[in-house]
Amino acid sequence: MLNMEEEKKSRVLVIGATGRLGHYLTRFSIQSGHPTFALIRNSTFSDPSKSANLESLLRRRHSPQSLFLSPSTSLIKLKGSLDDEASLEEAVSKVDVVISAIPSKHVLDQTLLINVIKRTPPSRSDKTQVSDLDHGFYSKKSEIRRLVESSNIPYTCFVNEVDAAAFTIKTIDDPRTLNKTLYLRPSGNVCSMNDLVEMWEGKIEKKLVKTLLLRVNFEKIKETPYPDDMEMVFIYSVFIKGHHTYFEIDESCGGVNGTELYPDVKYMTVSEFLDTFSRIVTK
Ligand SMILES: NC(=O)c1ccc[n+]([C@@H]2O[C@H](COP(=O)([O-])OP(=O)(O)OC[C@H]3O[C@@H](n4cnc5c(N)ncnc54)[C@H](OP(=O)(O)O)[C@@H]3O)[C@@H](O)[C@H]2O)c1
Repeated sequence: MLNMEEEKKSRVLVIGATGRLGHYLTRFSIQSGHPTFALIRNSTFSDPSKSANLESLLRRRHSPQSLFLSPSTSLIKLKGSLDDEASLEEAVSKVDVVISAIPSKHVLDQTLLINVIKRTPPSRSDKTQVSDLDHGFYSKKSEIRRLVESSNIPYTCFVNEVDAAAFTIKTIDDPRTLNKTLYLRPSGNVCSMNDLVEMWEGKIEKKLVKTLLLRVNFEKIKETPYPDDMEMVFIYSVFIKGHHTYFEIDESCGGVNGTELYPDVKYMTVSEFLDTFSRIVTK
């Protein structure tokens, strides 16, 4: 039975709640007071470590995130899978928002889900951030994104992980993000490789030995089959091409800036992240 506060909030279905990103999405959704549903595969119910992971979501937690104003323990577990149409229909019919956090290599397995959503639309549908970079990894995400767009399902797209989960949940009942791509480019977290090295050297109070890479071994990337090439493609895209930062976030093109919309979300800066390692290294 939902309490009065939960009744006002959008009902959220998380697909992939036992995964890395899905765990945080589910936790933040519950803690923000959204009636939260998780679609769980049969095999996962019988896996003790995954069950423990799910149970941990039901424990009340306190967090410095201002997002967590109304801790709640509402999580409804539904048995089902992306290849089980009946389970998808049942799950989608219960909610207003669907958040899918399945692994990149299974991204095209969401086709059935999209068809179900078209027939039984929740009020909004949120998808993971995609990019135009190809090499199999991003192209699959792009394909599924085009399908979402051509299906006329309202969507929002995202980048990044734990903090991305916090920002994602903030967007749920926010009309400013409806049919928009939410970009996360937090100040202090946009830095070049040289900035990063300099920051690290400052923390460990040592100079690093540097090797200059004059050209990227594209042949190696091309010869490596998907999904083994993903790490190389990702490093090339992020650290060499800067695909996350070379463009302006422009509302006329459907982009909105997460850190501007939600200045109250306290995200981890790169410097704070490096501190967690420097404490170990300098001990
Ligand atoms: N940019 C970043 O820094 C970053 C970091 C992490 C993740 N991500 C993105 O986040 C997404 C999720 O990645 P992840 O690392 O969180 O994945 P993960 O840990 O491997 O979790 C995958 C989840 O999807 C579920 N799943 C897989 N196939 C399913 C199916 N057929 N039906 C229902 N559920 C299914 C799994 O359920 P079971 O427990 O049943 O296997 C699990 O809960 C990916 O798109 C990834 O690219 C991005």
